[in-house]
Amino acid sequence: MEGRGAYNLNSALQASGAALALPVFEQAADSIPLEDASRPIVIADYGASEGRNSLIPLSLAIRVLRKRVGPSRPICVVHTDLPANDFRSLFATIEGEPESYAGDACVFPSAIGRSFYAALFPNSFVDLGWSSYAAQWLSRSPGPAPNDIFGFRSAGPLRRAYFDQGRADWELFLTKRAAELRAGGRLVICLPSLDEAGQHPAALLLDAANATVGEMLADGVIATYERERMCIAVYPRTPAETLAPFADGGLGVGLRLISNSFSRLEDRAWIRYREDGDAPALAAKRAGFFRATFGPALASALSGDDIARRDFCDRLEAGIRRRVTDQPAEIVNRVAILSLAKY
Ligand SMILES: C[S@@+](CC[C@H](N)C(=O)[O-])C[C@H]1O[C@@H](n2cnc3c(N)ncnc32)[C@H](O)[C@@H]1O
Repeated sequence: MEGRGAYNLNSALQASGAALALPVFEQAADSIPLEDASRPIVIADYGASEGRNSLIPLSLAIRVLRKRVGPSRPICVVHTDLPANDFRSLFATIEGEPESYAGDACVFPSAIGRSFYAALFPNSFVDLGWSSYAAQWLSRSPGPAPNDIFGFRSAGPLRRAYFDQGRADWELFLTKRAAELRAGGRLVICLPSLDEAGQHPAALLLDAANATVGEMLADGVIATYERERMCIAVYPRTPAETLAPFADGGLGVGLRLISNSFSRLEDRAWIRYREDGDAPALAAKRAGFFRATFGPALASALSGDDIARRDFCDRLEAGIRRRVTDQPAEIVNRVAILSLAKY
């Protein structure tokens, strides 16, 4: 994700998906066993980015826990992300945002910079887990597709490689989290979801990004070898793929499925556009989201320095903005919400 506050400012879509999971997370916080008062409660936030979208769900869970255990039991909140994440912005967000839990003197924030495809905590350590819009990112790229920066949209053997990687990583993510959870611990996960037919709701936006990158190649802004390295290693899943690890009751991954839902998200930017007809404003929101979420992954394929990478992201954003302004369209995103319990 883009750092220096850019992701925080351009992730309203992710926040709107996570908002639907709040009652589920509240229920999870209310149900974990907390009898042993001699130890702190541990909450893990997997794939936190700059943290702003974590604050409302985590503050809600802490309020529920405070009602159960009183004001003085220590609660450790551990935000995790990749080592390259902007943890500086994360900690500034925790200390500075009004919806933060930082006002509770017995809540102790910390962070881990390590892939969530590895173990992040000792076994049976975490009471409550939250992960929003993160586990669609793969542990490795199965490879770039020749004509699409989104390899999961390719065909043939490469498409199969994405499918296999997507399945293996999902099972690995769940298995690692199951090991870290305490007995009776709970984990709530939000993920962007495809529909049952495997259609991506934002296909037009992905096309606009692809066309912009193609234009940069044609204009000589990026080199062929750089374009060939560009690949966004995500695998958004269909509902069937998301639920596949729980077909055996979740025994294979060590997590029981308590509830699941697959919901459509209101396109607030589109509703606003229908009211004011301001296509450039709509396009700025779409392009800002795309840049903050995917720009750094694409720019990492460049051989230039930070200035070259920023210039690439500027052009990417401008190209998407131009295309969306010319062809505004509604995007009805979907979110998968799973509530899981340790066996
Ligand atoms: C779209 S952001 C979601 C941020 C936030 N949870 C939200 O809901 O807005 C995805 C985050 O997952 C992180 N991520 C991707 N792959 C990861 C991995 N293997 N291990 C840990 N974090 C990862 C990214 O670095 C990024 O910060």
